Amino acid sequence: MKLLRTGKKWKNTGMALLLGMVTGNMAYAQGNNYVQDYTKYPGLALTPPMGWNSWNKFACNVSEDLIKQMADAMVASGMKEAGYTYINIDDCWHGDRDSLGFIHPDAKRFPSGMKALADYIHAKGLKLGVYSDAGSQTCGGRPGSRGYEFQDALTYASWGVDYLKYDWCNTEGLKAEGAYKTITAALKRAGRPVVLSICEWGNDQPWAWGQNVGHLWRTTGDIYNCFDCIEDHGTWKSFGVMQILDKQEGLRKYAGPGHWNDPDMLEIGNGALTPGEDRAHFTMWAMLAAPLIAGNDLRSMSAATREVLTNKAVIAISQDTMGVQGFRGVKKDSLEIWFRPLSKGEWAVCFLNRSKLPATVDYHWKQRPVKDPDFGYELNAAATGYTLYNVWTKKLQGSTAQTLHAVIPPRDVLVFRLQP
Ligand code: GLA
Repeated sequence: MKLLRTGKKWKNTGMALLLGMVTGNMAYAQGNNYVQDYTKYPGLALTPPMGWNSWNKFACNVSEDLIKQMADAMVASGMKEAGYTYINIDDCWHGDRDSLGFIHPDAKRFPSGMKALADYIHAKGLKLGVYSDAGSQTCGGRPGSRGYEFQDALTYASWGVDYLKYDWCNTEGLKAEGAYKTITAALKRAGRPVVLSICEWGNDQPWAWGQNVGHLWRTTGDIYNCFDCIEDHGTWKSFGVMQILDKQEGLRKYAGPGHWNDPDMLEIGNGALTPGEDRAHFTMWAMLAAPLIAGNDLRSMSAATREVLTNKAVIAISQDTMGVQGFRGVKKDSLEIWFRPLSKGEWAVCFLNRSKLPATVDYHWKQRPVKDPDFGYELNAAATGYTLYNVWTKKLQGSTAQTLHAVIPPRDVLVFRLQP
């Protein structure tokens, strides 16, 4: 019997077929046919995820008491009723790995353990998220998942985790697409549906490879609690609401049900933004079909903050089931007009005044047909009349038959839902 290797193919000299049948093991040695599943859990995050995350307000200061109180407040404040579901613990919940490599929460901060915390959260009809990192350590210096991906995924499943934010610090030598495919394969293998939030800050264009790997991907570096500024930390920068908004240019074609661009978590109610800026931040995240992950202290938020975060008309734009991200159709000085096609032929239209001065708008709907540059939807008020529902005053405000005349306060928005 002779087997000759020519290029990539075995040349069958008569016995090869028989040999393959008799000694199956050899076939494995010659070409492993084990297929790993590197695709995310299907059917999750069909609209942008809504929830709360500890990082923006509490950074490393997390504990089971805090998380339980936040779950209580999510229900008591009406946030749950408005659609918020995930209670996500960001960095620094970790203790050490044990001698077998299993990760444990910090025993001082989480004395009852993660399973008990998940049970508490689930009993309220909410879901639990945790945070890890593709590298050796998290950004906060806690144990990362590198080399422990399948083990960690099994641990998370045993706790009852529903959402994983997976960061990108300390990843020397790793390639993002491969690293995120490893963790998604691990989650899939562990058998519990988990939303995977890819957090590599847009460094390696996750929108280009992330669609089947994760359910959302950060498009930028971290948000900073300001409306219009860049914060320089020396080796890295973080970005105000408007800077993050501008970085979304060109990305909308990659988003859709189950796979969203993530311009980072909300800073609403964290003290730096004015009421108008809070409205603008919330509205723009809805226009972008962005995840709505609150980042404030839900236990003590003001009525004004709660009203912004629970505005049902804005949330309805965010959660539109067609899942088409909005686009900037007009930009004139500091005034921008954003459009988002919605299901049933409706539209959301947002006039955004970025300036510190009021902006006067005279808008002739019928003279301004709008065409979606990526998906082809058309808003033609000359052909179809629409009523204008103002989502912040919660009142009908005429129709597209009339010219819109309005003055928009500094750093604020005027937002309509258009219904044919
Ligand atoms: C990175 C992420 C943040 C946060 C911190 C935690 O900076 O981008 O969202 O998770 O790490 O250390």
